[in-house]
Amino acid sequence: MKYYIETYGCQMNVSDSELITTILDKAGHSEAEDLDQAELIIFNTCSVRQHAEDRVLGRISCERARKTVNSRLKIAVVGCMAQRMGKSLIEKGIGVDLVVGVDQYLKLPDMIAELEDSAIVEQDSKQVYDDLVPKHHDPHCAFVTIMRGCDNFCSYCIVPHVRGRERSRDYREIEYEVEQAISSGKYDITLLGQNVNSYQYEGVSFPMLLDRLSGLNKQYRLRFITSHPKDLSDELIEVMARNPKISKHIHLPMQSGDSEILERMNRKYDYSHYKALVDKLRRAMPEIAITTDLIAGFPGETESQFENTLKAISEIRFDYAFCFKYSNREGTDAAEYDNQVSEDIRLHRLQRMIDLQRQITLEKFQDKIGTEIEVYVEALSRKSNEQVSGKTDDYKIAVLSGDVALIGSFVKAQVIAATAGTLICE
Ligand code: 5AD
Ligand code: SF4
Repeated sequence: MKYYIETYGCQMNVSDSELITTILDKAGHSEAEDLDQAELIIFNTCSVRQHAEDRVLGRISCERARKTVNSRLKIAVVGCMAQRMGKSLIEKGIGVDLVVGVDQYLKLPDMIAELEDSAIVEQDSKQVYDDLVPKHHDPHCAFVTIMRGCDNFCSYCIVPHVRGRERSRDYREIEYEVEQAISSGKYDITLLGQNVNSYQYEGVSFPMLLDRLSGLNKQYRLRFITSHPKDLSDELIEVMARNPKISKHIHLPMQSGDSEILERMNRKYDYSHYKALVDKLRRAMPEIAITTDLIAGFPGETESQFENTLKAISEIRFDYAFCFKYSNREGTDAAEYDNQVSEDIRLHRLQRMIDLQRQITLEKFQDKIGTEIEVYVEALSRKSNEQVSGKTDDYKIAVLSGDVALIGSFVKAQVIAATAGTLICE
């Protein structure tokens, strides 16, 4: 069968889609170049916010029309929504034939061959998909999953409910996958987990894993997402500071700058702990880029508590922040909290947050003007054939003059101008 995967949500889903590609190719299926050729459309879905779910439901209903032209066409839903909603996705009558949960992807080939209108969503707290190397689609970057699930139960978050308990993969499997990726020409490896700082496998901790993965005799960058502030150790900071292969960038979700809200979010740190971590990271690596996630309008958030988040944004000056409007997820603790904040206020706070951070991001990018940076060139620029684009070590997008010959190499460049998303270099 020719299949086409449409992926939503986080990098973990991108990685899972690559894993599904490996599983289906092994079973003799092949990837369709576009939707028109597909005999099976797979939606890999996200449940973190209601908006993400609504978008996918809309997309599925839209693609259902293809079934009138091609009666053999099947639609499968996998990922977090599949896990959360199970068979009810089929019962909705929007054209879904198969539903496969996050721990059951090995069953996909059998389900395609034999079953109709079925859902397999049992959680398997041991499933880590060892012995399968995902087919990395990007020519330069590879995502490598090092752990699955989450045990933190932040009160707003659906992830621990759908992705189950945290488990780490065998470091030897991870090493093999990273080696394969690098020997096939990837230069930018991102290690994935909901909370990579708590990686632990037979005595190997996350900082130890980073050290083990950086020993290959080639130039490449190691990145990782996501770090939970409660588990960020001095040892990790020390390894990052001394190891040139580890990218000087950390994504450290703060969520709120108000300690009372953080407590009700069950984040297990307060603002002063978070700020102390930022100071420690910057002392050890003055050039480090720090990015974050922020939520506006958590239940019960008062105007002054929200302003504490704005103050924290101004004080810390993140390189970038992903800002989200709180979304109520059924089954989470926060869904039951009193004083849910109205949609209007949540939207308004979100906009204020975005506006403040956009200005800081611009200033942070402009601070780089006049400095020399190293860019890993990935592609021709979308705007001009005489420009190429790539990424800096601290995960910023850079464009510079040059042609295809530069693609796939590390280039030193001088920053001459900046916008709030791009460094313009020579
Ligand atoms: N509402 C809004 N944002 C959320 N996130 C997780 N759950 C929710 C929710 N219910 C955000 C957090 C997390 C990021 C991946 O998504 O900021 O870090
Ligand atoms: Fe969700 Fe918190 Fe786990 Fe991140 S650490 S996936 S926000 S529960």
